[in-house]
Amino acid sequence: MTDTIQHIAVIMDGNGRWAKARGLPRSAGHKQGAETLQKIAEAVADMGIKCLTVYAFSTENWNRPKEEVDYLMGLLRQYLKSEFKQIQERGARIRFIGERQMLADDIVEQMEKIESDTKNNDKFTFCIALSYGSRQEITSTFRKLAERVKNGQLDIDNINEKLISNELYTQGIPDPDLVIRTSGEERISNYLLWQIAYSELFFTKTLWPDFSVDELKDIINQYQTRERRYGKV
Ligand code: IPE
Ligand code: IPE
Ligand code: MG
Repeated sequence: MTDTIQHIAVIMDGNGRWAKARGLPRSAGHKQGAETLQKIAEAVADMGIKCLTVYAFSTENWNRPKEEVDYLMGLLRQYLKSEFKQIQERGARIRFIGERQMLADDIVEQMEKIESDTKNNDKFTFCIALSYGSRQEITSTFRKLAERVKNGQLDIDNINEKLISNELYTQGIPDPDLVIRTSGEERISNYLLWQIAYSELFFTKTLWPDFSVDELKDIINQYQTRERRYGKV
């Protein structure tokens, strides 16, 4: 049933509100959210869906208070050291998309190691958008292509959608079939703007730490009833 779905993209939102509702610091929401991610990633892999991309930290999230950013980076360090192992053992290829120059050197080193250790895994791709912004991604692609035109390596007539897709961070990954955003916000927040041109969008009020495999299955069932027309009749 899920064989028509190749790629699910998720905007994991609502960690702060989940914590606030319990009188806990925002960090507690991020911690619980990280556990939800682990559970959902494993479930998606087990469903035979080829790819999961999750929005873990946006370029705009750098503007949060230093304390919160530091906590999130600490959580990330912990995940890079241990938690990713379980999904890796399931035959997952792990990729990171985003602006690496903003991240600490030790984090980038770990990310590169995990990417290289898992690069030959082809069962499932787990893609983590980290320090990611879609406009930044598209801007850097414009620059790369302009540079090539300038050097005479690229003819303007050869710039097409396929070429652009292949220059984005998500190169080689099919466009998402569906995008799920938790927490009731109904916006895209600079996520995969090019890639989601024809994705089906799902918004749920559930806060990310409460998101469950059952709700995911329910959304997948709803997806199956949608008709993707791509502009045709
Ligand atoms: C999503 O939860 C996680 C990140 C953006 C890192 P939030 O931290 O945005 O939680 P809310 O939206 O404030 O509830
Ligand atoms: C989007 O959530 C980014 C991530 C989930 C990582 P935000 O909470 O940062 O988005 P806005 O500010 O509500 O649009
Ligand atoms: Mg939020």
